[in-house]
Amino acid sequence: MFIAIEGIDGSGKGTHCKLLNRWVKDKGYDTFLTKEPTDGPVGKLIREALKKGELDSKTEALLFAADRSEHVKVISEKLGEGKVVITERYFFSSMAYQGASGLSLEWLREINRFAPMPDLVLLLDIPPEVAIERISTKNSLRSSVREREYFEKKEFLAKVRDIYLDLAKEYEVISIINATGSIEEVQTAVRRKVGRAISSWEEKKKKPSQKDLEEYF
Ligand SMILES: Nc1ncnc2c1ncn2[C@@H]1O[C@H](COP(=O)(O)OP(=O)(O)OP(=O)(O)O)[C@@H](O)[C@H]1O
Ligand SMILES: [Mg+2]
Repeated sequence: MFIAIEGIDGSGKGTHCKLLNRWVKDKGYDTFLTKEPTDGPVGKLIREALKKGELDSKTEALLFAADRSEHVKVISEKLGEGKVVITERYFFSSMAYQGASGLSLEWLREINRFAPMPDLVLLLDIPPEVAIERISTKNSLRSSVREREYFEKKEFLAKVRDIYLDLAKEYEVISIINATGSIEEVQTAVRRKVGRAISSWEEKKKKPSQKDLEEYF
């Protein structure tokens, strides 16, 4: 069972991945909690480069895809062991962020085609103003963020959010969760969706597949 949590900066992905992971574990499942960019060599390179802001968006997109290629190997291995894999960010992030930087969604889709589709993607949806407010309190950045920087960040995240919402219309696996409520409220919504997905995953495991039947008869 493969779950991805997506959303703009400060939407609460990290918070809800951790809470969800604990809840799924308490239900008796083996889990694997992970994130992108990864802690692997390409992920580290991405973090450094993003800090310095020295790469153009096409290079960034290719590096994210390269990091993901490594990530997918680990994810597949854990899924093969029957684990519930929960990732903070996946290829939808590449489409939303690099798409907001002006790259073609078709090209982004193409370079990420190798990445398997999750069973469920939760999109934590929130207006950029609210998300920025949350991050600012976290890093006590608020007073030092100049008006202009704030405006640019808000405009950019608004574009990212719009692409995410468009992707939700296109991909059936994406469920939108209103992330403006309290952590408890949002987590309740997250658990409801995941609980349902786990039940149908269990059903599928019980039923023999068409292939199993064909092999049997
Ligand atoms: N529903 C909520 N209400 C109020 N504060 C929240 C809520 N959810 C998360 N927060 C707080 O907002 C901040 C950002 O949350 P978090 O780090 O989980 O977001 P994120 O989506 O993982 O961000 P990033 O994209 O930067 O990784 C944290 O300080 C967190 O405690
Ligand atoms: Mg996070």
